[in-house]
Formats: sequence, C-alpha cells, structure tokens
Amino acid sequence: MSSQGDHKPGSVGKGAAVGEHEKPEPVMADGLLVMPGTLRQWEEIKSFQARPDDTFIATYPKSGMVWSTQLMEIIQLQGDVQAYKVNKQKLSFLEISIPDDEPAVEKINNLPSPRVIYIHAPISHIPKSILENKCKVICVLRNPKDVAVSYYHFHTFSNMLPNPGTWSEFLQNFMIGKVTYGSWFDHVKGWWSLRKQPNIFFLFYEAMKKDLGYEAGRLASFLGRDLSPEAMKNLVEQLSFNSMKTNMDGKFPNIGSVTGFTFKQFIRKGQVGDWKNHFTVAQNEVMDQLIPDQLKGTSLDFCYEL
Ligand code: A3P
Repeated sequence: MSSQGDHKPGSVGKGAAVGEHEKPEPVMADGLLVMPGTLRQWEEIKSFQARPDDTFIATYPKSGMVWSTQLMEIIQLQGDVQAYKVNKQKLSFLEISIPDDEPAVEKINNLPSPRVIYIHAPISHIPKSILENKCKVICVLRNPKDVAVSYYHFHTFSNMLPNPGTWSEFLQNFMIGKVTYGSWFDHVKGWWSLRKQPNIFFLFYEAMKKDLGYEAGRLASFLGRDLSPEAMKNLVEQLSFNSMKTNMDGKFPNIGSVTGFTFKQFIRKGQVGDWKNHFTVAQNEVMDQLIPDQLKGTSLDFCYEL
C-alpha cells in the first residue's frame, strides 16, 4: 500500500499535465454533476427515445466500458476479430458530445438500428424510454478502489474533465460522490436493483480479468450468439490488455485532438489491485468502512485482488 498517498497530478505517466489544457468545471443537472457540454443537451438526453432493439452499455466511468464494448461487438460478429473495426460513428455516448461534431443526441437519433449506446448516468438520470422499451442493458461494474484510482488518473490526462487536485483530495470527493457522474455507490446500487430483469446483464471487471473466455461465453448467451472454441480463443487473445494496448492505437479514432489523450494512455494499467499503489493505510480503512455501509443489503460483493 502507498505510504505517500498524495500523487501529484502532473507527475502521472506521460499524460498531459494538469494546467496544460483549459479544464472545464462540472455543473449540476437535476442534482447530478455533469460536464457543461452534457448540460447543454440535458433536455434532449432526458427525452431521448430509445428503440427496443438498442443495446446500452451502462458503466460508471473507468469500469471497463471500452473493453466490454469491444467484447460485445466482436461477439455480435460471431468472433470475427478481423472484421472488427472501431467505427467513429459507432462511438455513441449519449451524454458526451465531441466539440465540432454533431451533438450526441442528434447523431445517435440519425444512426440506423441496431444501435449500441453508452451511458454513464445512474438510473435516476437515464432517459425513461430505456427501461420502458426493455432495451438490452449491459452493466459493467468494477471495485470502487480501482475505479477511484483509474478515474483520478483519467482526470489528469483528459482535458474533458476538471483538475482532480491531489490524490487525497480526489479520493475524498469520490467517496462523497462529488465527481462527474456522481456517486459510484448510487450508480451500482441503482443498476443492481434491476438485476432480476431479463434484459439487464452484468459483467464484473475483475471476473473479466480472471477468465475473459468464461465471461465472453455468458455475454454471448445473453446476446443469443454461439461462438466456436476457435473464435472464442481469438477473441480472448485480441482483447487481452497487452494486445489492446499494442494494437488498438491505429484502429481507434483520433480522439486525442479533442480529449487530450491517446488510446495508449487510456488503456493505462488494466490491473485489479492498483489501488494498493495509491491508498494509504488510513485511506483504505475509511474506504473499508464506507463500502459495506453503503452496499448493505444489496448482495453486491467486489473483488479487490486476484
Ligand atoms: P486503468 O486506468 O485501471 O488501467 P473505461 O473504458 O470504462 O473508461 O475503463 C478504462 C479502464 O479499463 C482502464 O483502467 C483501462 O486500462 C482498463 N482496460 C481497458 N481495456 C482493458 C483490457 N483489455 N484489460 C484490462 N483492463 C482494460
């Protein structure tokens, strides 16, 4: 466990140091902290009309959304990794409009079916039509200690998020939900409360790290696909951390000019337990009290090391 506990933002990796870009401040939308661009589209987001054949990937930030999206899309292609291409048009974040691009909602409205749409908001703030239309939702959950660390680093190198302050300051804000997209606890509790609905499916980041093939098989069943053992083997190889870090840069749309980071920075460490390099003993004790207290009665149980 870290004895220092106060990483300085500018010293993290090769990411752009905080201060090199103008960093936006989050704002409130119906009690949820969001980025100013999201607020500008807030009414359109709330009234967004999901189609029954839409699939949503619902994650709190830094829980493995890009990883699980690729998993899902390759499964939809029956495991044909060669056919898989990251398509900028397909990067359909309901809440995030890329500057100089069409507003997100408009862009998604114009996409042909079937669409894959990403959302970060908790269930209290998602468009009603998603649940009313019984859309498929794949929720990806990750333990809150590693999410906090990953989110902190992401703040340091993304110019779409505010200055995180020191690690201690960021962690404090994370624990009370004073970060963009609000409380991790509210997010996971909300989605987990819907777990008995047949259209809602859960992936856990740690389980994917432990046995991606097994989790891919579960997801394939949910999506009504049946992959050959060979296809499954290729898929697992393609989506390993090292393979994604090495191979994806060229395939990923040029997000760097807008967001300030490269795909290699984004695919940062990919570990279960990196929190041990950041949390002090005292910070860990606070978190170890908070987690069971917040998750009491939910049956949710997270894995913190493999
Ligand atoms: P770290 O910052 O801990 O490395 P999201 O896509 O929701 O923003 O999540 C990003 C996190 O998922 C990052 O975590 C990233 O490294 C990790 N990730 C992405 N692809 C991965 C893979 N193939 N294996 C393991 N982790 C992966």
